[in-house]
Amino acid sequence: MGNHSLHLLIIFMSFQCFLAYHTMAKPSMTSNPAAIKFIKSSCKSTLYPVLCVQCLSAFANTVKQSEKQLAHAALSVSLSRAKSTTIFVSKLNRIRGLKPREKQAVKDCLDTMSDSVDQINKSIPELGHTGQFSAGQDFMWHVSNVQTWVSAALTDENTCLDGFSGPGMNGNVKAALRVRILHVAQVTSNALALVNRFADRHRPRTISNSP
Ligand SMILES: *[C@@H]1O[C@H](CO)[C@@H](O)[C@H](O)[C@H]1NC(C)=O
Repeated sequence: MGNHSLHLLIIFMSFQCFLAYHTMAKPSMTSNPAAIKFIKSSCKSTLYPVLCVQCLSAFANTVKQSEKQLAHAALSVSLSRAKSTTIFVSKLNRIRGLKPREKQAVKDCLDTMSDSVDQINKSIPELGHTGQFSAGQDFMWHVSNVQTWVSAALTDENTCLDGFSGPGMNGNVKAALRVRILHVAQVTSNALALVNRFADRHRPRTISNSP
């Protein structure tokens, strides 16, 4: 239920893919039109396509037209946002004057965000293991680990705000946190969609032995 209302909020709020990524996006746009076209069309399969293009256009030169490289870039954006949000929450954790319930909510959020960082962090090398020499079962094993861990990270992020849902919670803390959490959850949701897209398109065909 909490997830549902959070989800609605996510849909109705829009964010820029801030700072460096945004400004870096411009040179690649002109230098690699085929890759930009590929990124735009792949981003259509995500829930937040505008944000997806903003965040990932900067990686056009490494992504080229590779679904795997695009998923990799999306995971690295998600990791960097999850890390910076975790740092932000750890600063909130040190604010004085929070009520015990607020302090507990911040602490719980810090735990779930740290877990989210771990899940995304281990997904990146795991995606790397779906290399050209991994086939069949091996490919499926690694790719399904990535899918599981990134979904767990997304759940962690969505859970983070739950502790703040009761009445009487500090409005400023909650608002400051919400903006960041929604952003990281959107970016992670997009990464999961792009991992799923990569998995679908590279899933080894089942070889039938029957004539
Ligand atoms: C990510 O994982 C590597 C080892 O796999 C570790 O050295 C590094 O500290 C981790 N980074 C974060 C942010 O957890």
